[in-house]
Amino acid sequence: MSPQQKALILPKKQGNFELSSRSIPSPGPGQLLVKIQSAALNPVDYKMKDTGMFVTHYPAILGSDIAGVVEAVGEGVKNFRKGDRVLAHGAFTNDLTGFQQYTLTVASFTAKIPSSLSFDNAATVPVGLDTALVGLYGKEYGAGITPPWTKSAGDHESKKPIVILGGSSSVGSYAIQLARLSGFYPIITTASNSNEDLVRNFGATHFFDRNLSGQQLKAAISKFTDSPIEIVYDAVSLPETQSVGWELLAENGTLVLTLYATVKEDEGKGRKIAQIFASPYVPQNDELCRSSWSMVEKWLSEGTIQPNNHEVLPNGLEGIIGGLERMKLGQISGTKLVAHPQETQ
Ligand SMILES: NC(=O)c1ccc[n+]([C@@H]2O[C@H](COP(=O)([O-])OP(=O)(O)OC[C@H]3O[C@@H](n4cnc5c(N)ncnc54)[C@H](OP(=O)(O)O)[C@@H]3O)[C@@H](O)[C@H]2O)c1
Repeated sequence: MSPQQKALILPKKQGNFELSSRSIPSPGPGQLLVKIQSAALNPVDYKMKDTGMFVTHYPAILGSDIAGVVEAVGEGVKNFRKGDRVLAHGAFTNDLTGFQQYTLTVASFTAKIPSSLSFDNAATVPVGLDTALVGLYGKEYGAGITPPWTKSAGDHESKKPIVILGGSSSVGSYAIQLARLSGFYPIITTASNSNEDLVRNFGATHFFDRNLSGQQLKAAISKFTDSPIEIVYDAVSLPETQSVGWELLAENGTLVLTLYATVKEDEGKGRKIAQIFASPYVPQNDELCRSSWSMVEKWLSEGTIQPNNHEVLPNGLEGIIGGLERMKLGQISGTKLVAHPQETQ
């Protein structure tokens, strides 16, 4: 029998998670086999469980944020070797997911973890960072601005304001950091008051309570900038935040959304909507994500990108079940939940 591992499986559509065992896969060309030390949770995981979205086969294994140690490398992989500590963005297919003890990763969307960071730190990065960067730089699924690492300094979005709604969310915090890298100023964000220091540390220059109305926020922003707001990145994208974003947006501006639009694009010309699909595995994101993943180790080691705060869940893979419940109930604030698959009993 091939070597076995423990995995948290969803046996059927809208079923309950179960602990199970399955074979450890072998890496194909361009892939790595990774022993997972830390797997972070994302809202999409409970949405996939509850609705079956993105799931094509059952039993299904979820989880897209992966950090661990390379056990084996597939044909043609040049940049990684056995023993490397890595982080990777998983895919919606069982052999490439985080809620198990071993997974395959795709070398192009895997990066080495700098020695200054833990597996837990690293696991908080892939999905949040990719969502932020596709939303800002994606041509198909984002605002399509030029990625700052691909052009010369001085050519950035300097002195242009940006609003990031939900700056303390995982996605929002990476959007703030990329906005800083792109040279936006001021970087205006909203969150709960308890998260003001957090978002300022990520690079927000102006903080506002998330409960302000669009009109109140507009009035407050007009006190320090009269430049048109051409990009609003709504990391939360609930109907109420979309309305706020729409109200703040300049004519011809782009509202970047992480969920489906509830506001309507202006007819003909006018304000536009960019709805993110953050997977690096779709052809529309391939070039951008290959290019950004080649920067991830450097960004993390230099502190250009700082990981989210995190909380480690108890009981290995089984801890994920309660973690996703808390996430669904909106009980997660300014932090990422992380599980340790190797601690599964
Ligand atoms: N389209 C895609 O490809 C894609 C990819 C990734 C994520 N997403 C979606 O993006 C959303 C965010 O994901 P995430 O992982 O960043 O979530 P998260 O970190 O779990 O979000 C929790 C945060 O949301 C903030 N928040 C909630 N309501 C808010 C409001 N009205 N105003 C401001 N902040 C608010 C909370 O801020 P406070 O505690 O400070 O109040 C909290 O820190 C989710 O809906 C997720 O499904 C989409």
